[in-house]
Amino acid sequence: MIKDLSDLKLKIAKILDANKASYELGKVADYIPALAEVPSNLAGVAVATIDGDVVSAGNGGIPFSIQSISKVFGLVLAMNRLGDELWTRVHMEPSGQPFNSIIQLEWEKGIPRNPVINAGALLVSDVLASHYSASKLSFVNFLRQLAGDESIHIDSSVYESEMQHGSRNAALAYLMKSFGNIESPIPDVLSHYFTQCSVAMSCEQLAKSLLFLANKGINPTNNQTVCSRKDTHRVNAILSTSGMYDQSGEFAFSVGLPAKSGVGGGIVAIVPNYGVICAWSPPLNSFGNSVVAMKVVANIAEELGLSIY
Ligand code: DON
Repeated sequence: MIKDLSDLKLKIAKILDANKASYELGKVADYIPALAEVPSNLAGVAVATIDGDVVSAGNGGIPFSIQSISKVFGLVLAMNRLGDELWTRVHMEPSGQPFNSIIQLEWEKGIPRNPVINAGALLVSDVLASHYSASKLSFVNFLRQLAGDESIHIDSSVYESEMQHGSRNAALAYLMKSFGNIESPIPDVLSHYFTQCSVAMSCEQLAKSLLFLANKGINPTNNQTVCSRKDTHRVNAILSTSGMYDQSGEFAFSVGLPAKSGVGGGIVAIVPNYGVICAWSPPLNSFGNSVVAMKVVANIAEELGLSIY
């Protein structure tokens, strides 16, 4: 592990520079029209350590749509609220299907394969909408507290865009409701889910906010317990097996870190007992993972020898 911060900053800047031209190999998500408007050549990276240091390069300070990275925060809140009962309503197996697939959900009687595919995140959104009086506000406040930054906000144009193009998510939620696995009214579940996805955060803010997962559940910046040690282990296990969608096996094979991606182009990777890497570049590969961010995280992990395996 690198302790010298100027050396770390130089290294991540060099890795970003070496990879950022690959954005041309991907395609910006356009099924949510507001995401298609983000310039495809932006790229950033940040590393936050449990010792309290944050270094970044490129556009590492520019907020972007966190999209499915929000599934990690939602999961932690739902685990804290529901305890082990959560695992009777959502499982913890890789899906082997695209993130928004509906096909498996009927076979498996409305129980999603895991909490980081869309069906699972909608289930988690139901838990939050049913158990918090103001789940959307609680969610954003949770992020502000974790990152120690009150400026974190919802991008309302992304929210509106998601609402208008959310038929598949609505279908997933209604299918689960038909099996009795959703408690709240579907519009409340969707509204919570789209709010989560529409939060804008920078690489620096995301890396800081997830440090508790690298630190046995304790936020090292204020010493507060965010979740138990056991649940930290469980979240990292799910991110290792399912966090990169149908490319999770390849990511574990080549990088070896628990990670989560989003269609906004962000990827976060947890390095237990060290810190968090976050990289961002909007163009995606066919799995929905950022082309440049995958390479940047992979190169940092390789250069610093960070694989957990
Ligand atoms: O459910 C959706 O369509 C999005 N709001 C979130 C999807 C997402 O980020 C999946 N990621 N790779």
